[in-house]
Amino acid sequence: MSLDSHIERVLWTPDQIATRVFDLAAQISTDLSHFSEPPALVGVATGAFLFLADLARQITLPVTVDFIRAESYGSGTLSSGSPTISFDLKLDVTGRHVVLVEDIVDTGTTMAHLIAHMESKGASSVSVCTFLDKPSRRKVDFQLLSKGKFYRGFECPDYFVVGYGMDFAERYRNLPYIGVLKPELYK
Ligand code: IMP
Ligand code: MG
Repeated sequence: MSLDSHIERVLWTPDQIATRVFDLAAQISTDLSHFSEPPALVGVATGAFLFLADLARQITLPVTVDFIRAESYGSGTLSSGSPTISFDLKLDVTGRHVVLVEDIVDTGTTMAHLIAHMESKGASSVSVCTFLDKPSRRKVDFQLLSKGKFYRGFECPDYFVVGYGMDFAERYRNLPYIGVLKPELYK
């Protein structure tokens, strides 16, 4: 059975994703161009791996790239509450302008935690660039640091989505589009 046959509905196609990533990268390139230090892109593993790869290749500034891992989900679709950092940065972000690159912001718990973590490491500003945003599910209204900005690709309706890096039980990350699984597969 092919992976595509697990999907009930496609929400964003590869072309729509590429167009939006191009625009986000252009915006970020403009906004961060006046800083003397190259911005630090920090991808939130594993979900942001494709988005970060696409975004980084379209940003026209010199940037550094690093990953961090925050664990908050079990294998299901419900958050377990407070996240822990299970894999930390390799690069020093002291005095740097950090852009946290995320697949999707849901309750906001993970982002709030990661922003505080970057602040504790001495970042001089923290922006967030998330491909999807589900504002209807927000529980934590996180604040960006200093003159940081919030970038988002698309507002996502309240579905559990997979593809373009996002998983259900660690599967479907490699789908080149974003979709909703058939209900019988969410078990
Ligand atoms: P938050 O802490 O509730 O904002 O959750 C953020 C994390 O939950 C994201 O980084 C995703 O990894 C995961 N997540 C939230 N919603 C979805 C979804 O619809 N599909 C896949 N992963 C999701
Ligand atoms: Mg994630």
